[in-house]
Amino acid sequence: MSDTRAQQRLALQGGLKAVSSIEGKGEPKIGVEEFMSVAERFGFSEGTLAKIRQAVSEEDMGSGPFLANYYSDLPETKVQGFERIARETFGRKYAIGVTSGTAALHAAFVAAGVGPGTEVIVPAIGFFATAAAVVHSKAVPVFCDVDESLAMDPAKIESRITPRTVALAPTHVMGSVCDMESIMAVARKHNLRVIEDCAQSCGGRQKGRYVGTFGDLGCFSISAYKIVGGGEGGLIITDDERLYERAQGMVECGGLWRPDRFAPPRYPRELFCGTNYRMSELEAAIDQVQLRRMPGTVARFHKVKTSILRQLRTFREITPQKLNDPDGEIGYTLRFFPETFELGAQIVEALNAEGIGCGMRGPNGAPDWHVYHDMFPVTTKTGATEDDCPYQCPLYLQRGGNISYQRGDCPVADDLFDRCISVGLNQWYTENDCNNIAAGINKVLSAFCTEDPNATRWM
Ligand SMILES: Cc1ncc(COP(=O)(O)O)c(C=O)c1O
Repeated sequence: MSDTRAQQRLALQGGLKAVSSIEGKGEPKIGVEEFMSVAERFGFSEGTLAKIRQAVSEEDMGSGPFLANYYSDLPETKVQGFERIARETFGRKYAIGVTSGTAALHAAFVAAGVGPGTEVIVPAIGFFATAAAVVHSKAVPVFCDVDESLAMDPAKIESRITPRTVALAPTHVMGSVCDMESIMAVARKHNLRVIEDCAQSCGGRQKGRYVGTFGDLGCFSISAYKIVGGGEGGLIITDDERLYERAQGMVECGGLWRPDRFAPPRYPRELFCGTNYRMSELEAAIDQVQLRRMPGTVARFHKVKTSILRQLRTFREITPQKLNDPDGEIGYTLRFFPETFELGAQIVEALNAEGIGCGMRGPNGAPDWHVYHDMFPVTTKTGATEDDCPYQCPLYLQRGGNISYQRGDCPVADDLFDRCISVGLNQWYTENDCNNIAAGINKVLSAFCTEDPNATRWM
């Protein structure tokens, strides 16, 4: 057969293929060197830069995976590696890397059955995202007052429980840890789910056990300023297969993650319309390194704070923040409550003059999304549309729900949040730095307060 006849004959009938190869060669969709020149500006370590270079270089000539943790034939994507390290670090069976701490909370709440007509108890001090994620889940947040640890007061939870309550969402505040043992006891007594918000205290522990591993689900933020700080990312951990699958349903668009994605649901509520909260490969390349560093970072912070606290004397007019577990404290802030605002203002001025950076919000502080009464999109109960759920939801109304929010609901938080003096600490302080800071705090407190060996101890 002549070449021309073979070319004309259909490939189906044994003729030559019209397109046997493609000559055109593209360039990686993301230029490696251009990308690295941006990444290098962020001051990442050599190890992190190497991971980023590897992730970007794995881009092929235009057909993906485009830094997505999806349809990849790599033996282990960066996200899968990050999730493996999270499982190993926290000793949990399941871990899901997501786009943010808020996404982690939203997916965890939905997984735990938070939905229309239900309520979740959240702390009066923490961050807006926890309460907001309850609202995203079409449920109603109920604020619970704190104690002198600034975390949810286990003794006040029961008074906030209603027939609509399905979950507790304690927040571990600013490097400190909640009293998880007491919180879990209340939760188990009332058959409530527990979703821990560990965004501010990744690596904190109570009695040697990492926060995030007490409750049904642990949620973390990996935004730039956190202990495990990448760019924008989040993490969910759990030991419960069903909760893991349902959280994946939210993160992976509602079942796309399943080995057989079009199979019928294996159990009621397995399939529902989730969204896309998948972590990107680039974020995961950074977060793998950051998460591996976490124990070292926490140990350095802990050593600094403990070294300072051990040297502080006790004063009648000063109440140190209660530490639910001094050994499990991360310690990037040192906090205490002066008896009055006037005294607090004097101490803050004097400490700053000594070179010890600190602040107190005071009685006329600007609105702040870390305290419940300033979380306006929640407290005003306004949705994106006029009839927005969850407050207007017939299920919520039928079940007797009728919440309102105002300052005064949580008096301890109202008082302590304004009266708290916070001293920021740095993990890289030397022993000498710690000694100087401790000496400076003792000097200032001695000048304005009454030293008393029987006053509340620092740890
Ligand atoms: C306690 C708490 N929860 C949730 C979040 C939300 O995390 P992200 O900013 O990653 O969405 C934050 C962020 O600061 C936080 O502090």
